[in-house]
Amino acid sequence: MPDAASLYLDLLQRALTRTGFDDEVVAPFTSAALKHRVARRLLAGSGAEAVVRHRPDPRAREVGADLPSSAETMVGEKRLDNLRFCVETVIRDGVPGDLVETGVWRGGASIFLRGLLAAHGVTDRVVWVADSFEGLPRPDAERYPADEGDDHWTRPELAISLEQVQANFARYGLLDDQVRFLKGWFKDTLATAPIDTLAVARLDGDLYESTTDALVALWPKVSVGGFVIIDDYGAIEACKAATDDFRAAHGIADELVQIDWTGWFWRRSP
Ligand SMILES: C[S@@+](CC[C@H](N)C(=O)[O-])C[C@H]1O[C@@H](n2cnc3c(N)ncnc32)[C@H](O)[C@@H]1O
Repeated sequence: MPDAASLYLDLLQRALTRTGFDDEVVAPFTSAALKHRVARRLLAGSGAEAVVRHRPDPRAREVGADLPSSAETMVGEKRLDNLRFCVETVIRDGVPGDLVETGVWRGGASIFLRGLLAAHGVTDRVVWVADSFEGLPRPDAERYPADEGDDHWTRPELAISLEQVQANFARYGLLDDQVRFLKGWFKDTLATAPIDTLAVARLDGDLYESTTDALVALWPKVSVGGFVIIDDYGAIEACKAATDDFRAAHGIADELVQIDWTGWFWRRSP
């Protein structure tokens, strides 16, 4: 029989991804797809956004390959399994440091981090929650040519306010002083954040710039035996390039391990 902590974490994971719960997938619907000419014109001129809603494919939700309408995380079950593995390993092995997520959207993966600490009775580590809380920055193609043309910054569904994310933590009874919010662009917040050491750093900022800003500011704080997780390594070429460039520049040879179609991670060796 699994113990109470495992049962709680299993349930939390399923709730945060809405696995097995009623949920919908929201996909953009362009006016061009409308059959009726008048309806097409009305929609195009209204400034409104049309979306298609449908039930999630459980296989897509497992690997975080859809955009949930209500789930607090889009990363899917497999990447939450990975987060659980990393946090439980650092707790078991006594690897010192806090936990951080850079790029939190509705906060689900960060809520899971706080739930992991709660489930294991850990009171001396903090969860850092870093985001603009207003979506992605406009690409700075001069400094980061790999981000040229990236249109994530235009997507309103990626801009979730600090208040909404805090309300999501509170919904699970996990908003307390072991959670610290870093609001702003990573380039302005991460380098000066009052973080001493990190045991797990989960990077989910999509862009070359966002991945680089997080690695530059946080890698020096990651303890030996700690983990770095790159959510978009497989999905976004620029994120992969940022990770590969950073690892090459810093001589990091620790094995990169694949989680699912997009998530990869490594463990810091001595
Ligand atoms: C793909 S979403 C994160 C998904 C989330 N981890 C989850 O569990 O569903 C990317 C997030 O990164 C944030 N972001 C990306 N680049 C950023 C930057 N340079 N500074 C601040 N926030 C950034 C966006 O605001 C957005 O919330």
